[in-house]
Amino acid sequence: MNNEGFTIWLTGLSGAGKTTISEMLCKELRERQAPCEMLDGDIVREHLSKGLSFSREDRDINILRIGFVAALLSRNRVCVIVSAISPYKNTRNQVRQTIKNFIEVYVKCPIDECERRDVKGLYKKARTGIIKSFTGIDDPYEEPQQPEVTCCTDLETVESSVRKILRYLELANYIPAPMDAVSWPERQARN
Ligand code: ADX
Repeated sequence: MNNEGFTIWLTGLSGAGKTTISEMLCKELRERQAPCEMLDGDIVREHLSKGLSFSREDRDINILRIGFVAALLSRNRVCVIVSAISPYKNTRNQVRQTIKNFIEVYVKCPIDECERRDVKGLYKKARTGIIKSFTGIDDPYEEPQQPEVTCCTDLETVESSVRKILRYLELANYIPAPMDAVSWPERQARN
């Protein structure tokens, strides 16, 4: 069994379901006694990345900052869950190079569906020009080519997306399977 932390990096359009999946995944991991921390784009932008815009340059700075923190945490055995649009392939790959156990999860949802959901009312604002450079409308989103996991949130439930990620973590030996009686801290102490 792997004795290290890891970073699960959820990328996808605004409204695709990254935060919802992150929250449920974090809860599941904590129930299994895994030390877990979330780094969510919206929250990071209120603190660590406060004042950054949505230009390519600032998005990259944001992603590299998140990657830096995720690397520090995950090398100290923390299970890190990042949810950020992270629209640029090169920047995601740059982060991948700096984090030892990096798992890219593509939270895939057609833009029409994200727009229909419009949870934060931002698509409407982007369509009417109140918000400029909105990802998927007038700013690019580069799809991952070979993500470790893809969650199609227009076709599957949150529960099944979370199960899919947990299954990947189990098969890759990052976490013990649930029927295993040995707890996460006990397992780490033994290794
Ligand atoms: S990223 O591009 O730098 O990865 P991040 O995930 O931190 O983005 O922040 C995205 C969130 O900021 C969106 O979910 C949305 O709530 C908000 N937001 C505000 N303006 C924009 C914009 N122009 N493009 C995308 N998201 C925006």
